[in-house]
Amino acid sequence: MGGWAGEVRVRRRVRAMVTLLVIASSAPSAPPMARAQPAIPPPGPLAHPKPLRQVGAPADLTRAVIPPDNRQTPQKIALGEKLFFDGRLSADGTVACATCHDPARAFTDGKPVSIGIEGRAGQRNAPTILNALYNKTQFWDGRVTTLEEQAALPIANPVEMGQPSLEAAVARIAVIREYQDAFQEVFGGRPNGPDLLRAIASYERTQLSFDSPFDHFIAGDTSAIDAAAKRGWELFNTRGRCNKCHALTDAERDVTNFTDHDFHNIGIGIIRHNVVALARQAERLINSGDSAAIDRAAVQTEMSALGRFLITKKESDIASFKTPNLRNVLVTAPYFHDGSQETLWDVVDHYNKGDGFQNPYLDEDIQPLALTEDDIDDLVAFLASLTSGDYREQAVKELARQRALSRTTRPQRDTARAFGPKPPRAPLPRP
Ligand code: HEC
Ligand code: HEC
Repeated sequence: MGGWAGEVRVRRRVRAMVTLLVIASSAPSAPPMARAQPAIPPPGPLAHPKPLRQVGAPADLTRAVIPPDNRQTPQKIALGEKLFFDGRLSADGTVACATCHDPARAFTDGKPVSIGIEGRAGQRNAPTILNALYNKTQFWDGRVTTLEEQAALPIANPVEMGQPSLEAAVARIAVIREYQDAFQEVFGGRPNGPDLLRAIASYERTQLSFDSPFDHFIAGDTSAIDAAAKRGWELFNTRGRCNKCHALTDAERDVTNFTDHDFHNIGIGIIRHNVVALARQAERLINSGDSAAIDRAAVQTEMSALGRFLITKKESDIASFKTPNLRNVLVTAPYFHDGSQETLWDVVDHYNKGDGFQNPYLDEDIQPLALTEDDIDDLVAFLASLTSGDYREQAVKELARQRALSRTTRPQRDTARAFGPKPPRAPLPRP
């Protein structure tokens, strides 16, 4: 490409951006893609530890997920909260956990994929840390199990907080008097890696988020959700087949965390990537057993699309991702591990057409659903009713935004396929 004709086309298209280009060219030291890092969100009221008593909160389970070697104390939680919002844990001081897990956005960042230090983009969408204490595994591919292990990885990931090591982050805060005192008080020693991770994990374990209209409905207040949400809850457990994965078992209705804690290939992103070739490439890396290298591959490279396969090396796990908890899902757009869907209508359209049959690893529970437009609206109403009281006002605005968008753009809608027969699955590739 190029030449005069191409140049004119490009010039016409970017005329509106001329001012921006002028600004960029007058600052030659800035790398072309670098964006200024936004300010770290402050720890406002939405960041504080949540009460254990909330309508719908599973009291026994909440106690059971506190590990015996990291008991909750108010001082430890306060230290963890401070660390969660402290940019000094990152290589250039600009990025904190809260940058990508902003309490005002239900501990997400609202971006398709996260942006770390120096404007570096990752490959995956930031999940919420609300209710992460109940996760059996952490990350979209479940590559670690505990919140303590999890917290170490973003600190040392080059596109997230960018420290050369956890120890480098510890060194940065170990010189601060306030932290020396807090670590002494809580752990009886100087700041160190394992205790820093314990404090952050303790803070995260205070972020339980229930008390949604749906919880009030289940607790007996029949007027807490409207008729559409009630129909949506029925569909979720019947024709919508959502309970095949978003429930502990499909034999019994599950009102707690809406996940089977398992991994499935539901056809996200599989069309954009040649996963078979990627899988061959990944095998060498996995065999090396280097967990930092696997973390970099998951966050930074195209191999990210392989999902759970990067961890297990099982062919059937290619492009499988963890079933996410659906609580607060309305206020954590965009959706899926790659942030590829903008609205809950797009998500349901995806399921409705049973996308991904050209993909040999597609989960057997994915199939055309024949949901009508009214059914889709009802499912969205149900999902919206899972928003905790803390985000009530935000939910009203977000639902209006998504509804307006869904009235004009429905990129995933394919009614013919949704009402068509289940197509034959693509054959497995020859080895
Ligand atoms: C640059 C953005 C960014 C920063 C900074 C960041 N995270 Fe994340 N976080 C993500 C992304 C993206 C994922 C998903 C990555 C994946 O699945 O591979 C994630 C995943 C998680 C999860 C797993 C949740 C789940 O449901 O599986 C937890 C918990 C978490 N982060 C906590 C933290 C903590 C604690 C810090 C600070 C030490 C932190 N994050 C810093 C972007 C970020
Ligand atoms: C075969 C298992 C399976 C079935 C059936 C299923 N889901 Fe999912 N769901 C998943 C998995 C796995 C993901 C994450 C996939 C990814 O990001 O690649 C997901 C993601 C989602 C998300 C996005 C959440 C987020 O935080 O990004 C929503 C919303 C959702 N599902 C709702 C539904 C609804 C509604 C139904 C029924 C119409 C349904 N799911 C049926 C397994 C399933």
